[in-house]
Amino acid sequence: MKKKLKIKKQAKKKLIIFILIIIISVGGFKLFNDYLYRQTYEYKLLQINYSLNEIKIIEEEFNDKQIDTLLTKEYNPNLTKIISDKYFIYNNLNRYLNYYNENKDIDLNKVISLINVNRDNAFYEKPIKTNYKDEKLMLVNKYYYLDKDYEPENIITTTGTYSYANNSLNEETYNAYQELYNAAKIDGHTILIVSSYRNFEYQEELWNERKELYGTRKADEYAARAGHSEHQTGYAVDVADFYDVNDKFGDTESYIWMKENAHKYGFILRYPKDKEDITGYSYEPWHYRYVGKEIANKIYQENITFDEYYAYYLDKEVN
Ligand code: DAL
Ligand code: ZN
Repeated sequence: MKKKLKIKKQAKKKLIIFILIIIISVGGFKLFNDYLYRQTYEYKLLQINYSLNEIKIIEEEFNDKQIDTLLTKEYNPNLTKIISDKYFIYNNLNRYLNYYNENKDIDLNKVISLINVNRDNAFYEKPIKTNYKDEKLMLVNKYYYLDKDYEPENIITTTGTYSYANNSLNEETYNAYQELYNAAKIDGHTILIVSSYRNFEYQEELWNERKELYGTRKADEYAARAGHSEHQTGYAVDVADFYDVNDKFGDTESYIWMKENAHKYGFILRYPKDKEDITGYSYEPWHYRYVGKEIANKIYQENITFDEYYAYYLDKEVN
């Protein structure tokens, strides 16, 4: 009888010890789990007020180093809107935030486009020498320039069929233009080149003429300063409809044809309407830039300017 009681007591003791071990283990496990959770980005970002939704976006878009940097800053309600934009470039993040702070009336996606093309810097202030390896993709604008003595290779003279007299341009561009010309002709349009390759000195003369007539601000709206004109690359053409007596290419059927078809031959409308703040130029329905069919298609499909394309697809610094 006594023996039985002893065994029962021992079993009870063992059970208590067992339960205690379980409790301690579960507690320890929980503590350990909590500790691990506190090391996660989710926990750390929650601490500085990002919501779970925002955290999901941040973790998708940012690498660890970028999140570590973010954790040193205060919560920003615009951050996830900015980083989920298609054209977001990480290196521009602070510039987007500053610009948006100072220009709250501008849409965030517009801010991204503007900053990507450097619009937070004044035109011509800190010119960057353009040096893209594939010359047909060189960016020349109010920030990027070509040297005074830069002369493109493969410049050839055009013939009367495709252009007015005294035109010359890059050979590949000219071949592509002939293709375009012939296709337009079949559709009933005669579209001629009126201006193409222009060297530094000629561009200087053109700009000075404008300046004499209209002053610096107006001249800058329509003409590039010497060294900053795409015409110096040999890959740009100004066109006109042969029958357009009023010289208003934008009002012609040929222009509509160009708008719908130029990209199929590798050309893009370089200074579109409603993109003046991006390109820095007034709408120029007559000015086309050759970039090759693939890129022209992409620019057309995405409805972006070459400046934006260059910033995002060619110049983007990967972090
Ligand atoms: N009209 C264009 C912008 C140029 O002068 O190159
Ligand atoms: Zn032009």
